[in-house]
Amino acid sequence: MNILSVESSCDETAVAIVRDGREVLCDCIASQVYLHKIYGGVVPEIASRKHIEAIYGLADQALLKAGLGRENIDAVAVTYAPGLIGAVLVGVNFAKAAALALEKPLIPVHHIRGHIAANYLAYPELTPPFLCLVVSGGHTMIVDVRDYTDMAILGTTLDDAAGESFDKVARVLGMPYPGGAALDRAAKLGDDRKYALPRSKPGENPYNMSFSGLKTAALNLIHHAEQVGEALDTPSLCASFSAAVSDILVPRVVLAMEQTGCRKIAVAGGVAANSRIRRDILAAAERLSAQVYMPPLSLCGDNGAMIGAQAYYEFLAGNTADMSLNAYATKSILGEAL
Ligand code: KG4
Ligand code: ZN
Repeated sequence: MNILSVESSCDETAVAIVRDGREVLCDCIASQVYLHKIYGGVVPEIASRKHIEAIYGLADQALLKAGLGRENIDAVAVTYAPGLIGAVLVGVNFAKAAALALEKPLIPVHHIRGHIAANYLAYPELTPPFLCLVVSGGHTMIVDVRDYTDMAILGTTLDDAAGESFDKVARVLGMPYPGGAALDRAAKLGDDRKYALPRSKPGENPYNMSFSGLKTAALNLIHHAEQVGEALDTPSLCASFSAAVSDILVPRVVLAMEQTGCRKIAVAGGVAANSRIRRDILAAAERLSAQVYMPPLSLCGDNGAMIGAQAYYEFLAGNTADMSLNAYATKSILGEAL
């Protein structure tokens, strides 16, 4: 089953064709990051306009790259939530039109379920159940993936997402948007014990997380150094900050493995590209003799292929939509009825 899959929830327009949820026939991306960089963050209006400009050409390019005709497409999938509402709407309207014109099923996919499914593309042998640490620009949670479309949230951030806090600290350090990757690169040259930063433990649920205290502490440190004219060791601050983020995430993943008995851990989302988090997850998994699944960097950030991977399993579960499908800025990964 060839699924034409569309992603437009933030600042990348992406169209892919994925066969049976596992084989990427093509994965085309038109990034807008260069535009939003000028403003230091995503400008929603610009994002929507750019998605409209890119999406038709990108779909043609996808067919060309895969060497397929329109008649070879068996279904159309799209990210319908969550994301910038104007941006998601572009993908949803395009997908509805394509499904209608091709007379094929329309499959709505939750963006975060897509991130998790990126692991199916990288690891053909991976099947649920497994645990997944989801770390993206807008979401941070530990998910119990009981089945392809049956999930439970063990814990989540109570304030900022990990990616958001990486980007904010990077921005104040003068790194271009989105700063997470640049901060990661700088951290490799620093001493991760140079700056003491907090690792808070919020609330009753031991799986819940908080990043706002850590973010504020890092920002205060930077501003204080500026005010008193002290030279900041930027690589070491980046290393200390990355270590603190990882220290918030990884022990909770370990706890989840210990308490559930599950020994399969996947990582998903843009921040899954972070070298410190990848290293610490690998080390923790080795201690527990657990199997680790980490998508290659190209599948960590937003892409169309991950939507096509999840779409196949949504289709098998009967989760298709009609022409009344809407876009949503927020929606739980647990997937209530449309
Ligand atoms: O999943 P994603 O592409 O978009 C959302 O769904 O939000 O994640 C984007 C986030 C941004 O915050 C970006 O700075 C962060 O992922 N990111 C990183 C790294 N690469 C991307 N954060 C830390 N280290 C990285 N290497
Ligand atoms: Zn994403």
